[in-house]
Amino acid sequence: MFYPFEMERYLETLLGERDSLLQEMEEQALKETIPVVTPTVGNFLNLLVDMSKAQAILEIGTAIGYSTIWLARAAEKTEGHVTTIDMNKDRLARAQGYFQRADLQNCITALEGDARKIIPKLDSTFDFVFIDAAKGEYLDYLNLIYPLIAPGGVLVVDNVLFRGWVVPESTYAPKYDRMVGGLRQFLQELCQNPDFSTTVLPFGDGVSVSRRVGVGLDQDEHR
Ligand SMILES: C[S@@+](CC[C@H](N)C(=O)[O-])C[C@H]1O[C@@H](n2cnc3c(N)ncnc32)[C@H](O)[C@@H]1O
Repeated sequence: MFYPFEMERYLETLLGERDSLLQEMEEQALKETIPVVTPTVGNFLNLLVDMSKAQAILEIGTAIGYSTIWLARAAEKTEGHVTTIDMNKDRLARAQGYFQRADLQNCITALEGDARKIIPKLDSTFDFVFIDAAKGEYLDYLNLIYPLIAPGGVLVVDNVLFRGWVVPESTYAPKYDRMVGGLRQFLQELCQNPDFSTTVLPFGDGVSVSRRVGVGLDQDEHR
């Protein structure tokens, strides 16, 4: 384990208690092994949206909407809007039920389908993008979403260190070879891309945070 479970639990205690809706979602996710972000990552997303004052927010991978609620609660403050995509019809329907219960339905648009087909049809740019769908497709999402991230926009990607296995010389079952290889390639390309300024944080399951540099921004200033 590259990052002690106890540390994540400790950081969670520092967050304080989540409200009953988030707690219910955490319990459901655990019970049904639906992989949602840890509360510390949810809180981090909320903080980043708030700090960056992002308004046009895109999430790839909704599941039952746990991370979406963290994002949307910050979007309420920035007067922003979250567009979230998932190809699993049942999960998306459950997410929409939670959005209503959280009274967030007006600041979230949920799109059903394969993100790789939906992203090319989106006609707006985004100032905050969160990727948390199929790990083997991360490079596809990056290449598709790249032109839609506004200069100065933020890109956050979850599970980039996947149980620590992405770190060279880790041991894991051979069936994960492709996924681990794909994540290594993804991190390599993202970190070397001169249009993004990137850092990788080893909390949760590994989270990358990038800022799009370029037109209208002084690249040196943001490196
Ligand atoms: C890790 S879960 C998302 C968890 C959610 N972000 C959270 O933390 O609450 C990944 C989700 O991505 C969805 N997914 C996987 N591949 C996808 C694709 N190509 N297009 C859209 N959704 C996809 C799955 O159906 C699944 O619900």
